[in-house]
Amino acid sequence: MKIVKLHEYPNLVSKCCSILNTEWPRSEAARMQSLEKSNDNFPISLLLLQDRDGNSIDSCDVVGHVKLNRELGDIIFIESLVIRPEFRNRGLGRYFMDQVEKFLETLGFREIRLTTTDKVEFYQKLGYKIVPGQVVPASSRSFKISLNHEQENRDQTTFSSPAPPPLPPSVSFGSSGFIKTLMAKHI
Ligand SMILES: CC(C)(COP(=O)(O)OP(=O)(O)OC[C@H]1O[C@@H](n2cnc3c(N)ncnc32)[C@H](O)[C@@H]1OP(=O)(O)O)[C@@H](O)C(=O)NCCC(=O)NCCS
Repeated sequence: MKIVKLHEYPNLVSKCCSILNTEWPRSEAARMQSLEKSNDNFPISLLLLQDRDGNSIDSCDVVGHVKLNRELGDIIFIESLVIRPEFRNRGLGRYFMDQVEKFLETLGFREIRLTTTDKVEFYQKLGYKIVPGQVVPASSRSFKISLNHEQENRDQTTFSSPAPPPLPPSVSFGSSGFIKTLMAKHI
């Protein structure tokens, strides 16, 4: 397997777009536009490729994708991690994330954060911890921004600072009932 930056192999954008849109349907134009923002100064889209002998990178199978966004200081926020369905449950998600962590470590980053609705157990297996008290409706667009302010004074090692006050009764969790859980890992 190989990991490459999408912006170094723009011919792979459409394969990547199709993997993401299979998982999270969205207009192809909007998806392509978002993927084309990948650059060395973040966001960076990384691709997991299945390389076969003699294949050029451009003709490799794209097996997975993850987007890295730079947040406060040394913190990276991970989004849109996906492994193609036929490659799941073979350890590739774990392998990809291990390599992502090594890559970020060499760049000097020390913490990774992410939100998830239903993959808490997967990330826990990879060493991510739930940041207590931080759940919001999955549709919330202001989540990351409000977290940034709350996190500035947070104990960076243990995530053990007290939970914020209970949500007011008027907060809605949307018709789907899904909530996002914030998770983090020090690298
Ligand atoms: C989540 C996802 C990336 C996992 O990739 P994967 O290659 O199947 O995961 P791995 O095979 O590396 O699994 C690593 C470990 O996590 C466990 N695991 C994998 N998916 C899991 C899940 N949905 N729930 C609980 N545990 C899970 C595996 O059993 C394995 O455990 P082990 O090391 O104890 O054997 C993949 O299922 C996926 O792309 N899902 C759809 C997109 C998605 O939901 N992305 C996450 C957005 S927050």
